[in-house]
Amino acid sequence: MSTIPALLGGRPVFVTKIPIVRPFLPDKASLDEGIQEMLSSGMVTKGRYLQAFEEAVARHLGVKHAVGVSSCTSGLMLTYQSLGLSGEVVVPSFTFMATVGALVWNGLHPVYADVNPGTTDLDPTAVASAITPQTSAIVGVHNFGNPAEIDALQEIARQRGVKLIFDAAHGFGALYQGKPVGAQADAQVFSLSPTKLLIAGEGGIVATNDDNLAEKIRIGREYGNSGSYDSAFAGLNARLSEFNALLGLRSLDMLEEAAATRNQTVDLYHEVLGGIPGIGFQEVLPGNRNAYKDFSITIDPDIFGLTR
Ligand SMILES: Cc1ncc(COP(=O)(O)O)c(C=O)c1O
Repeated sequence: MSTIPALLGGRPVFVTKIPIVRPFLPDKASLDEGIQEMLSSGMVTKGRYLQAFEEAVARHLGVKHAVGVSSCTSGLMLTYQSLGLSGEVVVPSFTFMATVGALVWNGLHPVYADVNPGTTDLDPTAVASAITPQTSAIVGVHNFGNPAEIDALQEIARQRGVKLIFDAAHGFGALYQGKPVGAQADAQVFSLSPTKLLIAGEGGIVATNDDNLAEKIRIGREYGNSGSYDSAFAGLNARLSEFNALLGLRSLDMLEEAAATRNQTVDLYHEVLGGIPGIGFQEVLPGNRNAYKDFSITIDPDIFGLTR
């Protein structure tokens, strides 16, 4: 093996490129029966697999309601709308665009608070000083699958009388103080797209213990139709199809293996890269497990000798 990185002219170790994201998917045999049943029954949406998936996710997370939606983005849009947020919402300055895009769709004003550079999650002190009388909510993110400081944020939300929501897009497979992230706060909204640990192809889950919120999300994902065909409010078509729900259900069986494998791989990276000056890792707080939807490193160019 060359001691000079290929980037600097050394011999590449691998001939072919290594995909940085390869979805961990169930095999075809585990899906065959369900697909056959959908095709012969004609129930390709709003059927038994969505119900079974929602029930299994709620059990896994230890939460009262898990509502399947078409994506995390639509789940966030409906959650912000259903909680009746207004004015300003505090969000992390480091997140994916959908956390904030869904606020803008609701006419809400994002106020950015810094993240802790170690954990890369919202810094509770920065959140406390970003809150004003116009603030109606805080939205946290479990960045790359690293659980946010949920208790500290919950305490600030309680003291200041605002809602607490998590964009938990990266959250499946993460443990907060030994329990899955998902049952805490007013709502947590997950993504099921192929870069995540729990995969439905496309899709999302809104997890909440709030009966009223869950009911509104169910109506909101159906255009705002509460069943009578009178419009309760302006909703979306944000349903999760039966095919996606079936894939999600089988993927849930593999979630623990996916999380364990990623953590073992990260341990190996820490071992191999940990001694190199100028390379830093995401900090996971004691008692938590990062899902490692992504494994990221930081580079201090002055110490490492190269930029990222
Ligand atoms: C933090 C965050 N929020 C929201 C989303 C959007 O998820 P979806 O593609 O399911 O709408 C993503 C996508 O990866 C994300 O990283």
